[in-house]
Amino acid sequence: MTLPSAAAPAITSREVVLKECFGDELLDVMNFLNEVVMRFPEAISFAPGRPLESMFKVQQHLSAIETYVQACSARKGCSPEAIWREFGQYSLTNGIISDLIANHLERDESIHVPPSAIITTVGAQEAMAIVLTGLFDQARDILLVSDPTYIGITGLARLMNIRVVPVPADAHGLEPNAVERAIVHASRDGRVRALYDIPDFNNPLGTSLPLDRRIALLDVCRRHDVLMIEDNPYGMFAYDHARMPTLKALDERGTVLYIGSFSKTLFPGLRMGYLVADQRVGSSAGPLARALSSVKSLLTVNTPPLLQAAVGGELLREGGSLEAIVAPKRAQYKKQRDAMLVALARTFGGGPQGVTWNAPAGGFFLTLTLPFAFETADLQICAGKYGVIVSPMRFFCVGPPRTNQIRLSFSYVDPQRIAEGIERLGAFVRDRVSGAGNRH
Ligand SMILES: Cc1ncc(COP(=O)(O)O)c(C=O)c1O
Repeated sequence: MTLPSAAAPAITSREVVLKECFGDELLDVMNFLNEVVMRFPEAISFAPGRPLESMFKVQQHLSAIETYVQACSARKGCSPEAIWREFGQYSLTNGIISDLIANHLERDESIHVPPSAIITTVGAQEAMAIVLTGLFDQARDILLVSDPTYIGITGLARLMNIRVVPVPADAHGLEPNAVERAIVHASRDGRVRALYDIPDFNNPLGTSLPLDRRIALLDVCRRHDVLMIEDNPYGMFAYDHARMPTLKALDERGTVLYIGSFSKTLFPGLRMGYLVADQRVGSSAGPLARALSSVKSLLTVNTPPLLQAAVGGELLREGGSLEAIVAPKRAQYKKQRDAMLVALARTFGGGPQGVTWNAPAGGFFLTLTLPFAFETADLQICAGKYGVIVSPMRFFCVGPPRTNQIRLSFSYVDPQRIAEGIERLGAFVRDRVSGAGNRH
């Protein structure tokens, strides 16, 4: 069978004026990086934070739907066909696998929450959309973010016209006293509603928040009545030592809204994530997750039940823990992280260039600091002339643009290509520092 190949019809001449925020560089970052990758297909790209396709087990995960169907039919005492038919219908807004996710959270994250506090979402991205839509009043509410941070949250806030105030992260992430000062300062202009962070293996920085800071941060947020939004897609990818408890696992007072994702543990095409919202709402009996279901119902109605069944089936097959599925992936990403650290030491270590980097204990990213400002023009030169693509840290900054830093992602390139890519980056840096790199 061949796909139709007729030329696409031309677009109409009718002009549409976009919302003002479309002029914002923030909303163009993803497109810009994708364009650079497409324009220079031969270049080695450390730009996208994508998981490695060779490790996807798409068919295997989808075959778990049958496991889920059998389990449901046994539990409900109905035929497997009836369960399959249910997948064809509109479904429960907050999802059909909350019990299995609650069990997974207990097993893999030591987070204890009732299934009623979980909303199954279309990726972590929808969880962010539900939180911002449901809890932020544009006129007065402020979102604090650790800075730099994931564009998924800041871009969304920009689209929704929600005020964002950056709290600069240091080499270990958010510093609780800095957060407290930011809360006090920002509270003069509105209500600080929540603080967003990625404490484990931060995107873009690669940092991990130390335990004492986690505890102090929870205390600061609780005292100031600020919700903490903890986004944790990389937590299971710890390479060096035992994991630290998540903020949610430490949270005894309902300070934390927790966002999870199956994009890195399984595969991102699933678009499966979840929001944990176990706070109380006024005098109602149900948790915040129940109140937020009206937001979810207006965003996506429900998360596709078939895809929930795939995740649910895997969780059933694996006895609730994703550890066995994640372990080989973690081993592969660790190899890639190590390959990048070795290549960086070989290329820049002890050299006169003044290039420094951090060694992330997990996740997909690290920060490289250069002795010069890395401009957008450098990105093009790096890609076109030297064959390596990186992300300027500036792309992820709300506050001061950290022009001397770049984010390197080691998740999407095999170890050999990583070594080659860092050598190419080394050549660029040497030429740039010595003035040999032609900037035009
Ligand atoms: C910090 C962070 N949150 C969320 C996501 C996206 O998650 P999802 O694919 O579940 O929407 C990513 C993916 O890159 C991420 O880095």
